Amino acid sequence: MCGIVGYIGDNNALDIGIKGLRRLEYRGYDSAGLAIHNGNSVDCIKSVGKVDDLAQKIKDKDLKGNSIILHSRWATHGGVVEKNAHPHTDCKGNIFIVHNGIVENYKEIRAKLTSLGHKFVSETDSEVISHLIEHFYEGNLEEAVIKALKYIKGTYGLVVMSKDNPDRIVAARMFSPLVISVNEHGGFVASDPSAIISHSKRMIFLEDGEVAVIKKDDFIITDLESRVKDKQETELDWDIEEAQKGGYPHFMIKEIMEQSESVANSMRGRLIIEEGISKLGGIDSVKDKLKEIKKINILACGTSYYAGLIGEYLMEELAGIPTEVDFASEFRYRKFPTVADEAYLFISQSGETADSLAALKEIKKREALALGIVNVVGASIARETDAGVYNHAGPEIGVASTKAFTSQVVVLALMALFLGRQRNLSLADGKNIANDIAKLPILIQETLKNIKDIELLAKKYSGASNFLFVGRKYSYPVAMEGALKLKEISYIHSEGYSSGEMKHGPIALIDENFPTFAICPKDSVYEKTLSNIQEIKARNGKVIAITTMGNEEIKSLVDDVIYIPEVNEVLSPILSVIPVQVFAYYMAVSFGYNPDMPRNLAKSVTVE
Ligand code: M6R
Repeated sequence: MCGIVGYIGDNNALDIGIKGLRRLEYRGYDSAGLAIHNGNSVDCIKSVGKVDDLAQKIKDKDLKGNSIILHSRWATHGGVVEKNAHPHTDCKGNIFIVHNGIVENYKEIRAKLTSLGHKFVSETDSEVISHLIEHFYEGNLEEAVIKALKYIKGTYGLVVMSKDNPDRIVAARMFSPLVISVNEHGGFVASDPSAIISHSKRMIFLEDGEVAVIKKDDFIITDLESRVKDKQETELDWDIEEAQKGGYPHFMIKEIMEQSESVANSMRGRLIIEEGISKLGGIDSVKDKLKEIKKINILACGTSYYAGLIGEYLMEELAGIPTEVDFASEFRYRKFPTVADEAYLFISQSGETADSLAALKEIKKREALALGIVNVVGASIARETDAGVYNHAGPEIGVASTKAFTSQVVVLALMALFLGRQRNLSLADGKNIANDIAKLPILIQETLKNIKDIELLAKKYSGASNFLFVGRKYSYPVAMEGALKLKEISYIHSEGYSSGEMKHGPIALIDENFPTFAICPKDSVYEKTLSNIQEIKARNGKVIAITTMGNEEIKSLVDDVIYIPEVNEVLSPILSVIPVQVFAYYMAVSFGYNPDMPRNLAKSVTVE
């Protein structure tokens, strides 16, 4: 997820652009860059680091111009170095582009263009776009952009400037958001309204497959067949802070609501459904070693640890590989005997958690394979492991991890599918799983339709001082994660337990004031969890059940029901965790707490 800004008009383009880019820094801060047009020539300047680093670099330069495009990068393809920063240009220095998204077929486009004589300078997927536009450019910029886009598979929020066309910038969208506004101050485009809302509250949200030609006092929007679209402006009543959060009051709820998109990004280009397998470029270099591994040890902390617990079920069920999960913070105190052909898998959103890094150091002393699942590109864990997979979930700002968790589980499912197909998982079973994974973004959207009901539930239960979360098998880690979410942002004591363990102790806590969340989708252990719910009800405990749509029988047994869509059991945590995230969020809000900044916590725990 990167930030994009563009402006064309008579005002100070540099000032407008830099101020706008600062407001998008939450979308990525690996590097920043700009291209500014003064009517005759284009200056392109980039810098590793934050927008401040870019501002520092240009402060003594006399940059003037009437149009500008800018970018702050959240690295996906290629390291965090200046040559990979945007804007990217073509061979002649005529076309300049800034891009948010992933060009899935960039390797084949790059090979083709290289054979035609194009010279590439970066390791990014994005650079192929500027060269492809150059390839098609015959004097009409928008025509060349449209021709190029027809070759691109993947996602883009794209803004293009050309030295030959100082009177326009061209923008295009496919799955990566872009908003435009044209008024008496000029024409604006950005990844989200926060970058430009101080100039106008009247916005046009581009849809997938739309291309906008933006001039200083005019714009036109077409589809990829050059048919003109009639678009309505939306009047926003947000202030700047709200705009940065996409209109949501907090980053946490924004991140909860964008899980359909983040999960889609985590799987994009990684599923080959007809072969019933996943393609994970980051572990390709070790695929022969992976074929031989006899045991997987997953190490992580907090929410990432709970994702790891789901990974244990996935690896054992789909790939038949014995798997053990440990808190990275505890691992180093164990003797942990090494066995032959084992792999260590580190899961971390930030990739900088000190406990996980310390465990990784221990592992490096052994000759075992170290793998990572990391969200922040270029983070220490990603660099220090032998191979790994990035989440591509975009920056997670809220301290309470939400979209990183669902993305981690998706990546674990993709990995388990890959390892399974290397072993005994049949083509037919592989295809089924691959198909079910592909449906997740739609199912997440369905799940999120319940949000208002869950807000009411949070109000109903806001008097409770304790909560229990229970679940079995794939729902057990969800119960643990639900309890963690509630305690970390609403400061309510909550415990996550396996449903089967209830009768071994925790059931003693139950009375009418101690409500229980029962995570019980209609899966292979549903009947057993139902018995545990009955045990709680027999002790006057209140029960909120999270179960599968169509399950009517449970209504007469429990106090409240939250429905999630039907889904393959192995993927059910990706849906069932969403209601507990939403519940915890509204609980915190009902007490007046800021869920983005819970007391005593930090987003990235870099101390042991
Ligand atoms: O960045 P990491 O995934 O390594 O972070 C691990 C934990 O610190 C993190 O998941 C923490 O538990 C979150 N606050 C949970 O919401």
